[in-house]
Amino acid sequence: ATPVIVAIDGPAGTGKSSTSKAVATRLGLGFLDTGAQYRAMTWWMLSHGVDVDDPAKVAAAASEPAIVSGTDPQGPTITVDGEDVAGPIRTHEVSAAVSAVSAVPEVRSVITELQRSIAAAAPNGLVAEGRDIGTTVLPDADVKIFLTASPEVRAARRSAELKGKDAAGLKATREALLKRDAADSARKASPLAKAADAIEVDTSDLTLEQVVECVVTLIDERR
Ligand code: C5P
Repeated sequence: ATPVIVAIDGPAGTGKSSTSKAVATRLGLGFLDTGAQYRAMTWWMLSHGVDVDDPAKVAAAASEPAIVSGTDPQGPTITVDGEDVAGPIRTHEVSAAVSAVSAVPEVRSVITELQRSIAAAAPNGLVAEGRDIGTTVLPDADVKIFLTASPEVRAARRSAELKGKDAAGLKATREALLKRDAADSARKASPLAKAADAIEVDTSDLTLEQVVECVVTLIDERR
């Protein structure tokens, strides 16, 4: 069978990762969490004392970290310079800094190139999820999905995900999430956007299983 490339984009808390992992597992495809790569880059900048609010400093350092993503949907991995950073990239500090780092064009070109090589190497194809996969990274993807959900639902999902790991309440989570989406949508370099040929799925009132079913059906129809 020819490899199938699926792009899943959308704002934070719409279920992109859970959906993508489940779809990839069901169809025997690879899985790529591109947000994890931007988080890994951000974690590296923070731990090397790079001022993340100085785009020139971030740009100058963008090629230094060696970011490696494992694409098994049942156990995706992420390392930076050989170190497992799956835990540290989910901290509040990284979440608060990631939009500034990912807005820097040099960061985007390094990571976009990495993403394209991972997609090209996936034997059966892959499901890549992020913000600009359908628009910029893989514009020729076979299927493009844009997931949305109401701010209330997104904040509640993220809050549940962070439970026990983050003391911030629902209101703070909602504010941080909306702030990140606004920054990601407003930036010049490949902003969060729905590709013209992407299919929009509002997940507010759907269970994960229903969203997965819907995406698998769309893929089956198109390949
Ligand atoms: O998906 P996640 O919420 O982990 O993404 C973290 C951040 O990485 C986003 O808020 C955005 O700033 C950046 N990102 C991006 N382009 C992508 C994926 C993520 O700029 N394709």
